[in-house]
Amino acid sequence: MNRTQLGKSGPTVSRIGLGAMGMSGAYGESSDDESIRTIHAALDAGVDLVDTGDFYGAGHNETLIGRALNERNRDEVVLSVKFGALRGPDGSWLGFDGRPNAVKSSLGYTLQRLGVDHVDVYRPARLDPQVPIEDTVGAIAEMVDAGYVRHIGLSEIGSATLRRAAAVHPISDLQIEYSIVSRGIEADILDTARDLGVGITAYGVLSRGLLSDTFRAPTALAANDFRAHSPRFQGENLTRNRELVELLAEIADERNVTVAQLAIAWVLSRGDDIVPVVGARTVERLTETIAAEEILLTSDEVARIENAVPKDAVAGERYAEAQMAQLDSEA
Ligand SMILES: NC(=O)c1ccc[n+]([C@@H]2O[C@H](COP(=O)([O-])OP(=O)(O)OC[C@H]3O[C@@H](n4cnc5c(N)ncnc54)[C@H](OP(=O)(O)O)[C@@H]3O)[C@@H](O)[C@H]2O)c1
Repeated sequence: MNRTQLGKSGPTVSRIGLGAMGMSGAYGESSDDESIRTIHAALDAGVDLVDTGDFYGAGHNETLIGRALNERNRDEVVLSVKFGALRGPDGSWLGFDGRPNAVKSSLGYTLQRLGVDHVDVYRPARLDPQVPIEDTVGAIAEMVDAGYVRHIGLSEIGSATLRRAAAVHPISDLQIEYSIVSRGIEADILDTARDLGVGITAYGVLSRGLLSDTFRAPTALAANDFRAHSPRFQGENLTRNRELVELLAEIADERNVTVAQLAIAWVLSRGDDIVPVVGARTVERLTETIAAEEILLTSDEVARIENAVPKDAVAGERYAEAQMAQLDSEA
């Protein structure tokens, strides 16, 4: 696995990262044992960037990663942790807290659950509209000075906020959705990040599994699966989106790769400063993901992919309306 630096100030990480969110119920049931095997398989393959959030399964995800790391050397992994999303005991979303004391309190609990003495990249999951970004980033910067955090990242914020944040402390990377069907960052955020020397950790590279062989056939979704409520997976939208996946499948078949691998390869082709963080909760999925790193697309193939699925071709937003309204990146 090749390596790249996150932005000009961030850590050097594997060219593809592992997203652990699905290991804590975001896409329905998962097995802790298989999740731990998946994390170990990732580390063994040289995938050392592991992304989590303290609100994934209300701490379950961090505890799980902590268990996986028990048997490993702390320095084998680059831990990227999101905080600030508030959730009720029933899993409901209650808003965001980016106040300085909330930053420090959240970090204390995170270190306990992970069983580590520092986090490599710490980032607010969303902008708290009640708290200036300077205050949130300033509090993380104090935690950097105290040795509990190595680098500061951000998530789903727009260009203006990114500039304000970077004026307070160097930002290693912006975590934001980016895929062949979610190309919003190309309008200005990507240029701003490049201008500031901020890397991109791209999530939703498979549009939550839409860009894969799985959804080419009708697929039942559990009520607690994010996709059961995601606009792109509903009714006519899903029918339209499956047509797009069929077009990608034609190109993937010619290269003898899967649709998911083609989607990952397309993001990889967008620049060395963009690291896809792909979700997987089984070793099988992870293995397919890792193999995508070796697919080098020609400029003709990139053009074919973008012609088959032009910007804005996808049906449905990437989040439901209420969640879209919480994205500074979409403001
Ligand atoms: N900053 C943010 O706001 C934010 C938001 C969401 C996610 N994230 C982070 O980004 C990570 C990745 O995002 P994501 O999980 O939402 O989206 P994703 O990577 O686009 O999609 C993950 C889904 O695709 C499926 N999948 C993976 N490889 C596949 C393959 N080869 N064939 C078919 N399906 C495949 C996974 O299945 P299985 O689960 O069955 O393995 C999972 O259901 C998350 O784990 C999380 O760490 C960040």
